[in-house]
Amino acid sequence: MKKTIIITGGAGFIGSHVVRLFVTKYPDYKIINLDKLTYAGNLENLRDIDQLPNYTFEKADITDAKRIGEIFAKYQPDGVIHLAAESHVDRSITNPLEFIQTNVVGTLTLLNAARDAWKGNMEGKKFYHISTDEVYGSLGETGMFTEETPYDPRSPYSASKASSDHLVRAYYHTYKLPINISNCSNNYGPNHFPEKLIPLSINNIKNNKPIPIYGKGENVRDWLYVVDHARAIDVIFHKGVIGETYNIGGHNEWTNIKLIKLLCEIMDKKLGRAPGTSAKLITYVTDRAGHDLRYAIDATKIKRELGWEPSLQFEEGLEKTVDWYLANEQWLNNVVSGDYEKYYAKQYNR
Ligand code: NAD
Ligand code: TYD
Repeated sequence: MKKTIIITGGAGFIGSHVVRLFVTKYPDYKIINLDKLTYAGNLENLRDIDQLPNYTFEKADITDAKRIGEIFAKYQPDGVIHLAAESHVDRSITNPLEFIQTNVVGTLTLLNAARDAWKGNMEGKKFYHISTDEVYGSLGETGMFTEETPYDPRSPYSASKASSDHLVRAYYHTYKLPINISNCSNNYGPNHFPEKLIPLSINNIKNNKPIPIYGKGENVRDWLYVVDHARAIDVIFHKGVIGETYNIGGHNEWTNIKLIKLLCEIMDKKLGRAPGTSAKLITYVTDRAGHDLRYAIDATKIKRELGWEPSLQFEEGLEKTVDWYLANEQWLNNVVSGDYEKYYAKQYNR
């Protein structure tokens, strides 16, 4: 069956992997990548597929109701997969308002556009909202987040994502908008912006710069390879029961310090350095304000009901990620220098 799908945030880290998967796996679908191209949006992420006939790019801000309405009228989408967001916790601590604008007001704007466009005929339509495990708050040493865990966000980022999740559910109950939500754990892999822990550390190790570890490095995250997240999004978009929420995770918990030590070992091997060389760059720095101690996802529901599970072991995925960053030095240098933003300003005349 043919479908027209708007994917928001398709130029970002996870969005670009979702766009690639949908464009290549479903040649009959029309995929519209709707992205504002903030500092985190980079069309270079999609260079390998951007000439395919079923791919279109629309530069737009999800808070711009008029423009979003025009895009819905132009394409008449059957589905929305909504990834566009401000996504970095540290930035949310310095500038919370931007997170409320994009993550809350932007999501509301898209919900309104979908409701207007699908009024009277919701059959076969779906608004799929991509969220995070951070909405559930912080775990102690034991336990896991299930779909029933009460929301307890503790950073401006997670509070803004929690608000957007609540709005999506409210539109399901109030207006019968056909929705799904998924809450995923930390992703890693190619095209990850080098402000986040793993790509930042790869870049610093490569350049012999200190690796900043917040606090004691004892905080725990549950890591999932980004392509496995994209596969889960595909499964939920096609098979997810309307109104349901699905947790997505790798059953792969690491303290930050153990993870960075493993990354240092891999980097030593790849860069031909003596064992222990990169680990000398580890530097403990002031902790993040309100730093959540531990996240861990119970992904039983999606496995049991939709048959999804992660395909990669962490060591394998981390090695693949390092290989990608070392082979794509130009991508990394362009992002770090901000050259890509100048390129798009010129390319899109904005
Ligand atoms: P990202 O920061 O790499 O990309 C975000 C994208 O959204 C960028 O392309 C940016 O240009 C676009 N964008 C931002 N503001 C916009 C606006 N106002 N209008 C249109 N486009 C806009 O983020 P990511 O890491 O790929 O995360 C994508 C989604 O997945 C987010 O909703 C995030 O909350 C969620 N998520 C991320 C992780 C993770 O580990 N990265 C884990 C779980 C969930
Ligand atoms: P991050 O990649 O920012 O993801 P999130 O905060 O959404 O989980 O951070 C992952 C973990 O790494 C988190 O516990 C904070 C920590 N961290 C550092 O120790 N140093 C850093 O430079 C960064 C960016 C993060």
